Amino acid sequence: MNLELHDIQGTVLNNRPMPYFGSYVAFRINEANAARAMLRRLIQNVSSAADWAAPKDNAWLNVAFTWEGLRRLGLSQEILQGFPIEFRQGMAARAAFLGDVGRSAPELWDFPHGNNGFHAGLLIMASTSEGRDDKLAIGHRALEGLKGVEVTARLDVGVPPTLREHFGFADGISRPFIEGQGGEPLPGQGTPTKAGEFILGYENELGELAKGPGPEALWRNGTYIAIRKIYQDVAAFRQYLQQCATDSAGQERVAAKMMGRWRSGCPLALSPDVDDPSIVADPKRNNDFAYFDDDRNGRKTPVGCHIRRVNPRDGLKDTMANARLHRLVRRGAAYGPTLAEGVTEDDGQDRGIVLGLINANPGRQFEFVQSQWVNDGDFQSQGRRTDPIVGRRDTSDDFAYPEKPVRRRLTRLPEFTATRGGEHVFLPGLGGLRWLAEMRDDNP
Ligand code: HEM
Repeated sequence: MNLELHDIQGTVLNNRPMPYFGSYVAFRINEANAARAMLRRLIQNVSSAADWAAPKDNAWLNVAFTWEGLRRLGLSQEILQGFPIEFRQGMAARAAFLGDVGRSAPELWDFPHGNNGFHAGLLIMASTSEGRDDKLAIGHRALEGLKGVEVTARLDVGVPPTLREHFGFADGISRPFIEGQGGEPLPGQGTPTKAGEFILGYENELGELAKGPGPEALWRNGTYIAIRKIYQDVAAFRQYLQQCATDSAGQERVAAKMMGRWRSGCPLALSPDVDDPSIVADPKRNNDFAYFDDDRNGRKTPVGCHIRRVNPRDGLKDTMANARLHRLVRRGAAYGPTLAEGVTEDDGQDRGIVLGLINANPGRQFEFVQSQWVNDGDFQSQGRRTDPIVGRRDTSDDFAYPEKPVRRRLTRLPEFTATRGGEHVFLPGLGGLRWLAEMRDDNP
């Protein structure tokens, strides 16, 4: 079975380049005909997964809609009601369940998140700033003369000079290998994940055909992305590490235990006591590990650390959970200026990460991972403990892991992050985009 790469939007199967320059542009749709006209102009410029490897200008453009956006585009009620409830309600309405409370509450989200005019979005990624600007120009041209669609916000993302995300970790390393994507899995990617976990129109891990509502032409090769805009309090993170250890080696160890990888990206599973950048440099080694056989208790990679929560690999083998049903394709991009190395006072600047978590079933995948694995610890006998990097803190604020001679317990973890926006969006296939652009007002 091969995926229809020419019809799948490129970001679903391809990671951003490195270095990268990107923009996310949000649109408000006031009039269906204008939005359809914009879409007709854009479609020929939308990058498919087949284009990705050899784009003319190393720049890519993808298009997504919220449920409200599809409604304003004129999709019939019958079809609209067939979408998954998480997508229909939108992420702001799901805040209590997702742990977006306190300073992460939707009332405090950045405009236009939280039902304030995010109806369609352009996702632009490029390997140069010129490439990014060219794609932005295409977006502007698509809007020319159309009064019924307006840009509500634009957020630029770009790799910090360190080539790391703001807390200082290398990212973009681990991802599922999707059946039919072409090529061979890298060591550590394991048995290919059924394509229907990420793309509609294919069989999923339950042996069912992943489907959407309405005609197949609308949803085939489409997917959902859970977009999270997350502020990162880098000064708080650095201060906390300093409280935990007086020397930099000790601080690096605590940071690594929280993440499950050294900041270089080297997995603790393969080198638990010293960072080994040679492992990171080798794509055949940097993700080649599992947890069950030799690290069930988390002596190397703590069971409560970030990467072991969001992808427990084989670590839940003797429990009721089937980790294969909760996989996410992760796309991350940094926004805001870097906090200079060594600075531990906050400079008041806004910085963080925009995550795109790709899944075909937002309830079983993103929302499950966020609510049960990031924001609870019950699934691995960690009580109510939450993710030490990105977890909510109102229900638990400690993190414990095995150390010699006795386990280490970190208490009073501050909130290192705050959600500043969140949207469930639908990314149709290219055929789906055409269907939406051409649909009749009485679409069935
Ligand atoms: C400020 C917020 C976050 C930061 C800085 C962050 C950082 C990282 C880093 C450094 C890695 C390891 C590198 C890699 O494997 O590519 C990683 C992996 C990952 N993260 Fe996050 N992350 C954040 C939030 C989240 C959230 C909210 C989710 C999902 C709910 C998530 C899902 C994942 C997944 C699925 C992986 C791959 C794990 C694996 O396969 O081993 N992350 N993240």
